[in-house]
Amino acid sequence: MEKLAIDGGNPVRSRNPIVETDVFEEEEFNALMEVAKSKKLRRAEATVEYERTIAEWFGVKHAIAVSNGTTALHIALAAFGIGPGDEVIVTPYTFVASDTAVLEQNAIPIFADIDPVHLTLDLEDVERKITPRTKAIIPVTISGSLVDMDPLMELAKKHNLYVLEDACQSLGARYKGKLVGTIGHVGVFSTVTGKITNTGEGGFVITNDTELYEKMWGYQDFARRRSLGPASKYHFDLPCTNYRITNMQAAIGTQQMHRAWDLIHKRTENANYLREKLADCPGIVLPSESPWGERVYFYFLIRLLPEVLGTDMLNFAVALASEGVYNIKYLSTTRWMIPQHLEPLFVNKAGYGGTKCPFECPWYEGEVEYYKGLCPVAEKACDEVFWLASVHPLLEKQDLDDIAAAVIKVTNAFIEKKEQGIPINYATDEQRAIL
Ligand SMILES: Cc1ncc(COP(=O)(O)O)c(C=O)c1O
Repeated sequence: MEKLAIDGGNPVRSRNPIVETDVFEEEEFNALMEVAKSKKLRRAEATVEYERTIAEWFGVKHAIAVSNGTTALHIALAAFGIGPGDEVIVTPYTFVASDTAVLEQNAIPIFADIDPVHLTLDLEDVERKITPRTKAIIPVTISGSLVDMDPLMELAKKHNLYVLEDACQSLGARYKGKLVGTIGHVGVFSTVTGKITNTGEGGFVITNDTELYEKMWGYQDFARRRSLGPASKYHFDLPCTNYRITNMQAAIGTQQMHRAWDLIHKRTENANYLREKLADCPGIVLPSESPWGERVYFYFLIRLLPEVLGTDMLNFAVALASEGVYNIKYLSTTRWMIPQHLEPLFVNKAGYGGTKCPFECPWYEGEVEYYKGLCPVAEKACDEVFWLASVHPLLEKQDLDDIAAAVIKVTNAFIEKKEQGIPINYATDEQRAIL
């Protein structure tokens, strides 16, 4: 057995752990300098140009660039007219923003379970969770894995629901030929560092619905009416806030959209390389291909088989970090999901101003509880699916080789230890308490 680094052996990788940076080339630099020279740093022409570029790229009527993916989700829900007393069906296998955006409108996130292979919404459970209070569904194409959108759209139509595609991790994925984000009423994307295109912070919405577009445009800028132009500036007739992006981010974003297909293809190439390298690795299941189209890759997700490896994900993560491929400091934030319904926020129904509002609020006629067992498939996925690596376009072949070698080394060692009856207990009590 090759001695694991955590047992005192040599790590697979002795140079620096892999760190992601933004893709920022001469084109982005020049575009940014142009905005700087124009001295128009806030939202202006460069943002309009970015929005036009996005809309053209997707082949949709409208795009609005905003401060981030979370605010993009919020303006869409606001434009749908979601409010107190309403329910919105969300997946528990996502980043927290997909569901806290619902709370921003004082509505109730209702979690439906996921499908164990694709890790996206299980439509049968979605249907079971629909009530007279349901107003929208948020399918999330998690790490580029597709949702079966045709039956989801049919279900939404039957119950008169809005569909908000959270495509923050899946720019360029195609469902039956259609770009993800263009199928629901609104599609939402994030461009925060690490996502498929980057503007540091940033996000955007896309839609073909002009009425929703006008409303969303307003919500990103103090609910101003775009049609009134500057005259609307001090006429505030709705609750409102400021989610504007800057021209600086937009100028970078336009260049990122020009290189988007290269970034997407490079990620797929990296994922396929890892797929090949790990094809015969025991104790893990590789990410699913989609039966409904062409997925993309944000991270490369592997499912660990605890019955083969003889241990849980935390021990695996700690041993893998010791092999030097990633920094253990970032363990909890990027290596797995937490079932959203088990976040303390939901279990404790922690509401605004220290109350339990909106969960327990006179406007809400339903009853909601969040507990273990609510979405068992998602809970199991969160225990077993490890976010192995971002397949970032700047990764070098050597990085991918190191990642694959480390996984093979750790899985083989764990299997041998299991066979020899050697207990595996690397994660500290402190790590178990916080992760
Ligand atoms: C699925 C998903 N939804 C929403 C967001 C929120 O995007 P942002 O971080 O830009 O607010 C993210 C990313 O962070 C995400 O991964």
